Amino acid sequence: MKLFNSSSSYKNPMINSGKVAWRSPSNIALIKYWGKKEYQLPSNASLSFTLKNCFTETSIEYSYDEGQRKISYEIIDSEIKNDKKLDKFFKVLSELAPFLNHLSLKIKTRNSFPHSVGIASSASGYSALALCLLDIEKEIFDLPNNNFFPRASTVARLGSGSAARSLYAGFNLWGETKYVSGSTDEYAVNIQEIHKDFSKLKDLICIVDETPKSVSSSQGHELMKEHPYREQRFSQARENLNNLLEILKNGDWSSFKGIIENEALTLHALMMSSAHSYMLMTPLSLKVIDCVKKFQTKENHLTYTMDAGPNVHILYDESFADIQNLKNELRSKVEHIKFIDDEVGEGPVRIHE
Ligand code: PMV
Repeated sequence: MKLFNSSSSYKNPMINSGKVAWRSPSNIALIKYWGKKEYQLPSNASLSFTLKNCFTETSIEYSYDEGQRKISYEIIDSEIKNDKKLDKFFKVLSELAPFLNHLSLKIKTRNSFPHSVGIASSASGYSALALCLLDIEKEIFDLPNNNFFPRASTVARLGSGSAARSLYAGFNLWGETKYVSGSTDEYAVNIQEIHKDFSKLKDLICIVDETPKSVSSSQGHELMKEHPYREQRFSQARENLNNLLEILKNGDWSSFKGIIENEALTLHALMMSSAHSYMLMTPLSLKVIDCVKKFQTKENHLTYTMDAGPNVHILYDESFADIQNLKNELRSKVEHIKFIDDEVGEGPVRIHE
């Protein structure tokens, strides 16, 4: 599948300027992507669900000039920074899609979640950006919509791997695996066979620490290259994925908890056991986990996961009636805790401004 269209499509621009805008969600991984190969390809397949309330809105004003030789972009009025990651993203993309070199972009973004609460905005940020760039290509050259979302997933992946999984509703898998036909390292695919008990999964995001991470995800992926448990990790991820796909189909909550918690703690254990050992969970993360464990029974639908940071995502469904009591307990045990109530979401939407 081609990322952008071929250069022969870039004849006769239909328009020279315009504005596009997209809202795109963040996602939370259940099977974690931790370690990459080549350029932005995953060492193991990962699976996440799209969030509803944590999203980025991005709008881009563009102008196209065939005489211009290098892409120019300006970040205005935004929460994203013009950092090295973004520069690399545009450099790689403009080599793949030379029409970008004729563009001048004014990029504006807004996150629905408060700035610097320790929630990664790269998944929602890069997926929104990818959607806008593909829309610009479509508008200027009046192109058809073929494979729009898989192509957007590929473009988003080049900015941030986890962003590849933010392009569709529900549950999404990124990375080639024999367990899902059509799966590929290039872009994410949607997993459609989801039991009703998981299709309305809720995520209480517990923000316990807002300080920026001491070690970035990029550094974490890099450390996996020489990690002593590397091969064991990738085979564990394959096994957990195989089991989780079955569980998501049959609604087996009790096995779900085991796999989800194992993935979360393994992610942090890998950080602690890498050559440059480090810790992103804090005593406050452990307090939250402790509260979850107190409320968890063998039968109830309550578990937790974590991203590469100290905050904890408490996962539950409507059948868990004690969520208010759990919140009260967390407030009393974890000073300054903040909550974001989230759930499985519907994927990106185009914004008409
Ligand atoms: O997309 P990146 O490069 O920021 O990596 C994110 C990795 C985790 O969030 C820790 C796990 C995942 O699969 O989302």
